[in-house]
Amino acid sequence: MTKRLGIGFIGSGFITRFHIQSFVAVRDADIRGVWSPNKKHAKSAAELANSLRLGEANAFKSIEDMVASPDIDAIWLCGPNHKRIENLEAIVKTIKSGKGSLKGIAIEKPLARNAAEAKKVVELIEESGCLHGYLEDQLFEPGIVKGRDIIWQRAAALTGRPYLARAAEEHSGPHMPWFWQGDLQGGGVLNDMMCHSVEVARFLLTEPGKTRNSIKPVKVSATIESLKWSRPEYAKLLRKRMGKEVNYLKRPSEDFARATIQYVDDKGLPLIAEVTTSWSFVGAGLRLSTELLGPEYSMMINTLDSGLKLFFSREVKGEAGEDLVEKQNAEQGLMPVVANETADYGYEAENRYFVNCFLDGKQPEINVYDGLECTQLLMTAYMSAEQERTVAFKPKDLDKYIPAVAKGTWKA
Ligand SMILES: NC(=O)c1ccc[n+]([C@@H]2O[C@H](COP(=O)([O-])OP(=O)(O)OC[C@H]3O[C@@H](n4cnc5c(N)ncnc54)[C@H](O)[C@@H]3O)[C@@H](O)[C@H]2O)c1
Repeated sequence: MTKRLGIGFIGSGFITRFHIQSFVAVRDADIRGVWSPNKKHAKSAAELANSLRLGEANAFKSIEDMVASPDIDAIWLCGPNHKRIENLEAIVKTIKSGKGSLKGIAIEKPLARNAAEAKKVVELIEESGCLHGYLEDQLFEPGIVKGRDIIWQRAAALTGRPYLARAAEEHSGPHMPWFWQGDLQGGGVLNDMMCHSVEVARFLLTEPGKTRNSIKPVKVSATIESLKWSRPEYAKLLRKRMGKEVNYLKRPSEDFARATIQYVDDKGLPLIAEVTTSWSFVGAGLRLSTELLGPEYSMMINTLDSGLKLFFSREVKGEAGEDLVEKQNAEQGLMPVVANETADYGYEAENRYFVNCFLDGKQPEINVYDGLECTQLLMTAYMSAEQERTVAFKPKDLDKYIPAVAKGTWKA
């Protein structure tokens, strides 16, 4: 009999449901548990898994019960950022008390809210003795993986390595209030989404087969701004949608961020990653755009350049939905559709990879140490934006640094 991995999810929100849907394309794993403080939501996520024949999944009473269950072999940690440490402590405590054991723990991006918390995550994972994964779906996007392979095999092998990667992730703003609150989330769009772009750019610039640190970050320069959501009319709208805790006239977060990260490769050649993220982009929906440039070649991807497009005349007056694309903004006119988002954004291949690693007892290559360094780069980007200068990586005292946005002292 093939071994199977029994998975338990912590959190039952947006990303858990995305992951669950992607598991229809993953063999050798069952979704057997969900824990979330809201039992009704946990039950609903478990029912989704069962309805897709991925179960049998149950809603558990506590993290401890789920980890202790003999049905659960691995945890996918998908709670909100401000509960990351607390959730992980509950897992590790249960393992160390001998009440439960796990093969692996996979943690959603960003690893934590700041560098000190990211280090704490690493310490807890080391204490647990479990295999560990950092859930960065975009490194598994089929277009990114295929494009990188072909570029490096054909073009870079003959004409020299790529030198510039550009990655951008943009949409019109997150779905839940906590994302908009700097203290809970860890920052604004930079902390929420630049982690993806930083890792994608680095992955493209790294020669396949070489380790991540074959290229080293040396300098970071960044800008953050609140372009849209602290305008009085939009701050008011945001408060109406997200509740009174989200007050962008008093405590804004950045809704735009850009960073340039300078790397050197193992031969001392300079490389550049240009990354841009925004919550102030109004297009059809989420747009991931990526480029890789080298001396005689280039590659480009834009997820909104999808093969499928629909046109709805003004007579088609439907309700607002997200059935065409994540963070959809319109239901009329000419609209792109991302037909299989769980595959196209990388979730299917990501979950297949981590399931196989955990079943085989193999430490995943994308893990909490990558998440830690990515957090350190993001914090250096905040430092650069606050100090309006280029900052050498890694700055000292990074572990004591909390971005002004997270402290609630940043002025847009
Ligand atoms: N890979 C990606 O592209 C991607 C996309 C979205 C979110 N995420 C990440 O996934 C995580 C969850 O985001 P989301 O969009 O699902 O948020 P969400 O708000 O939709 O869902 C969060 C879930 O956590 C639950 N929760 C509340 N308190 C909790 C606690 N104390 N412990 C554990 N869970 C608790 C909530 O009930 C909810 O079910 C975040 O870290 C976010 O950054 C990643």
